[in-house]
Amino acid sequence: MPAIPLPVGQKPPLPTLPRCFAHRGGGRLAPENTLAGIRLAARLGVRAVEFDVMLSGEGTPLLIHDETLERTTNGRGRVAETPDRILFSLDAGGEPLPRFVDAARLCRELGLLANIEIKPAAGVEIETGRVVAALADSLWRDAPKPLLSSFSPLALEAARDVAPALPCGWLVDCPPDDWPRQLARLEAQTLHCALAGVSREVLSKARILGVPLLVYTVNDEKVAKRLFAAGVSAVFTDCPDLVGRF
Ligand code: G3P
Ligand code: MG
Repeated sequence: MPAIPLPVGQKPPLPTLPRCFAHRGGGRLAPENTLAGIRLAARLGVRAVEFDVMLSGEGTPLLIHDETLERTTNGRGRVAETPDRILFSLDAGGEPLPRFVDAARLCRELGLLANIEIKPAAGVEIETGRVVAALADSLWRDAPKPLLSSFSPLALEAARDVAPALPCGWLVDCPPDDWPRQLARLEAQTLHCALAGVSREVLSKARILGVPLLVYTVNDEKVAKRLFAAGVSAVFTDCPDLVGRF
């Protein structure tokens, strides 16, 4: 079914943001970007998970962080040049690489809010944004929406064009001075930045503009508490076992 455009100027509603997202599925407690990690996060009581989605050599979206296979699997070479037959037979830490559709279904089954980080391989930003967002739109059609995000403005623009009903966040390491202008141009609703990129100026502008600020990667209880007190909406953590204390 083609995406139904929203009336001009209208943004999709943001989901209620829990304070903590388990980073890359289950953080450091499970092989990253796996279904086992997502299940573990849910068992620990975390209500939201972040994971990275890239396209295979055949255009199939799957969960993986790096453009190459070596760090997290027993495979070799570039994800974007590897056929599905090989990718989905690899060992990614005792777990297979998950297809995005399976991760989406699992999140829905477990009642988890998903932050789908669109992680395009270089050169296929638009196609990745388009494919992942269209699939997310259909997988969550009759359900509370997930939150898309990406470092890639090209991927975000493509995602917004095919799935205008899905809320989007713009990811940066350190927000540039003109981040509000760029966020508005992308029609993104949340700003996601690295812990090192959080400054008084960013916090103050985000508060004034009413933009939720999400910060990665926060693994320390005191730091998390300080950020929340300063107005940060949510953090991504590698320690989903600590979120009760955040
Ligand atoms: O989405 C937040 C965080 O995951 C961004 O960094 O490199 O871990 O995907 P990375
Ligand atoms: Mg990520």
